[in-house]
Amino acid sequence: MAGEAICFRHVTKKYGDLTVLEDFCLSVNQGEFLTVIGRSGCGKTTALKMVNALLKPDLGEVIVAGQNVSKADQIALRRKIGYVIQSIGLFPHMSVSKNIAYVPSLSRQWNKETEKREVARLLETVGLKPEIGERYPSELSGGQKQRVGIARALAGNPEILLMDEPFGAVDAITRRALQDELLRLQKELKITVMFVTHDIREAVRLGTRVLVMETGRIAQLDTPEKIIRQPADDFVKQLFSDGDGF
Ligand SMILES: Nc1ncnc2c1ncn2[C@@H]1O[C@H](COP(=O)(O)OP(=O)(O)O)[C@@H](O)[C@H]1O
Ligand SMILES: [Mg+2]
Repeated sequence: MAGEAICFRHVTKKYGDLTVLEDFCLSVNQGEFLTVIGRSGCGKTTALKMVNALLKPDLGEVIVAGQNVSKADQIALRRKIGYVIQSIGLFPHMSVSKNIAYVPSLSRQWNKETEKREVARLLETVGLKPEIGERYPSELSGGQKQRVGIARALAGNPEILLMDEPFGAVDAITRRALQDELLRLQKELKITVMFVTHDIREAVRLGTRVLVMETGRIAQLDTPEKIIRQPADDFVKQLFSDGDGF
């Protein structure tokens, strides 16, 4: 049986008076592709950022690979966890290669040769030609930027990939291609993915399990088939009748 990659144990998170997560419990298996769906403001990004300790719980704990992330060495933790967001945050003054090599270079993990080899391998992994490495982010299409963002997150072979609405800004055709690529990648690398989206079709297409969130609580956590066939309540049912989700 696969081990547990990520675990939320009775996590409560507040911003001032606003409680975003309350007694939130979740276990994600190694190699699982978990999609998280819910309305804007329901706490998806907050939950995701707690996995790589960008945010800390007020109560409870978040465990990654058996370790409480609040107590873990933060640099080692970031190396274990790739993070992809919609606005990518590629550094505009750095070439694609330098962007991809950024995190490993911080801890001097790669020498020149390793960097060259790894960047070429990562570009290929995300379906880009090696020449792209010499370009700058402003010279890329939206879909290409997103692929570079994924390559950068995969640098250093993380065990976990956190993705926060990564394909929200690209057109439908590119989005579909990126989804296919990501599914292939995830199977190949056997990486654990936690993927936030507000598109129900994307959630059921990608997830081995789908977590439906409603203002800080779990409305349903199940396989896509189960969620479609047996929605836990009206809230989940509503999701599908709205077509596009939220
Ligand atoms: N740094 C912050 N300070 C205060 N409130 C915040 C902060 N970050 C998020 N929030 C609030 O917490 C709630 C959940 O936010 P978030 O996790 O970003 O939601 P989602 O990603 O599901 O759209 C929202 O009401 C948001 O306005
Ligand atoms: Mg968000």
